[in-house]
Amino acid sequence: MTKLNKVAMITGAASGIGREVAVRLAKDGCKICLVDINEVLLKELESELSKVTQVIINVGDVTDANFIKNTIQQIDESFGQLDFALNNAGVTTAANPVADIAIEEWHKIMNINVNSLYYCMHYQIPLMLKSKGGSIVNMSSMLGLIATKNRAPYVTSKHAVTGMSKAVALDYADQNIRVNSVHPGYIETPLIAHIDHDFLAAKHPVGRLGKAEEVAALVSFLFSGEAQFITGSQYVIDGGYSIQ
Ligand SMILES: NC(=O)c1ccc[n+]([C@@H]2O[C@H](COP(=O)([O-])OP(=O)(O)OC[C@H]3O[C@@H](n4cnc5c(N)ncnc54)[C@H](O)[C@@H]3O)[C@@H](O)[C@H]2O)c1
Repeated sequence: MTKLNKVAMITGAASGIGREVAVRLAKDGCKICLVDINEVLLKELESELSKVTQVIINVGDVTDANFIKNTIQQIDESFGQLDFALNNAGVTTAANPVADIAIEEWHKIMNINVNSLYYCMHYQIPLMLKSKGGSIVNMSSMLGLIATKNRAPYVTSKHAVTGMSKAVALDYADQNIRVNSVHPGYIETPLIAHIDHDFLAAKHPVGRLGKAEEVAALVSFLFSGEAQFITGSQYVIDGGYSIQ
């Protein structure tokens, strides 16, 4: 991507995939609003990226609709526009069959992995429309297209992200706002630190886990002018896992 006068918002920016997208967009010259609940890691990233671009941060919980509303207001006041949004903050669940999953746990996953994306798009889109368009990438998973045993809340939440992205893409296709979802296989990030990596790698036909930088390259492409005809699409990046 050539250096453009663009503004991006990234949730879940302090770690893993969100962090790599932030690093890449900063190198491309984007101004960025970084959002995460982890203040320590977010401030570390802010000081690293402010050496190369203009960065603002907002520490808070994406399940708080008012927090998201305030974040968009802050972007408007600081930059006056929003071009790209990566709605990426997400969590996984302990492995359990559905009868053993507490009702509170179910709602917690839906709030973080699904409802927060609605809050984000609800407030991002009006600001994008002010500058006549934008590109949104919602972070789903290959488990937003297929299932795996004992992960009903995560699988359900990521399928919801797939459907929501298609529905919102249709709502705004004629107003130059593109919405796509990205569906990674297992990517080496803190999210999967508790699962045996050799066991997971063997499930991918390419024989390894993915890297956050590889997902960042895909997100960067979907934001770019090269992807102008792409909306409502599901981009799988899983080393062949889901074709088996
Ligand atoms: N790593 C994988 O294997 C994998 C595979 C498919 C999809 N994904 C998805 O990619 C996204 C990013 O995951 P990652 O692997 O980079 O994980 P990660 O744990 O490294 O990063 C997630 C970030 O989200 C933040 N976050 C979590 N809950 C939050 C909340 N309520 N409010 C604000 N911030 C919050 C965390 O603090 C963290 O910085 C998630 O949506 C995840 O489901 C990951």
